[in-house]
Amino acid sequence: MPVIAVAHPLVRHKVGLLREADISTKKFRELTGEVARLLAYEATSDFPLEKVTINCWSGPTEVDQIAGRKVTVVPILRAGLGMLDGVLDMIPNAKISVVGLARDHETLQPVHYFEKFVGQLDQRTALIVDPMLATAGSMIATIDLLKRRGCKDIRALVMVAAPEGIAALEKAHPDVRCWTAAVDSHLNEDGYIIPGLGDAGDKIFGTK
Ligand code: URA
Repeated sequence: MPVIAVAHPLVRHKVGLLREADISTKKFRELTGEVARLLAYEATSDFPLEKVTINCWSGPTEVDQIAGRKVTVVPILRAGLGMLDGVLDMIPNAKISVVGLARDHETLQPVHYFEKFVGQLDQRTALIVDPMLATAGSMIATIDLLKRRGCKDIRALVMVAAPEGIAALEKAHPDVRCWTAAVDSHLNEDGYIIPGLGDAGDKIFGTK
């Protein structure tokens, strides 16, 4: 089950607010951050714990801590940057890897123009963030790049997914799980998700 639609009421409520046509840049950014935090919470729910003894106010006490997990958050430029801080709020020690992929508006294919990965990808969990899983071209290309560098635990966080993107992702990378806040109806002829959010990058950056 590589695509997991998060059904939490807070997530569903916030995605509804994001769909308002005349939403302000400030509100869109805030909600994107909030949804990213909740998706990060869901996507890390299987991280293993270990017991450590700490010096508590009442004396030595055994507590849980996440067991040696190294995380890199991977925003896909540019819209993925809108989700970055929300994920870092939950995983403050995560390192950041950046992938630049732009969508060719004619072919709808991703055009790769930048990458900067942190080291030890073979030992890390990668959390890719990109608000819209439309054709999934950028997501598939980013997963290809991470796998080529030895990353074995790759997870994706998106706010809205189209069935076409889900099918493409499941076909290309059946081992990669993707958490989404909503699964929408379809892609239109311009490659936009319907009902969707519109151009998430423009809404986060206030362009257009
Ligand atoms: N990218 C967006 O920003 N919106 C869509 O609907 C599809 C891709």
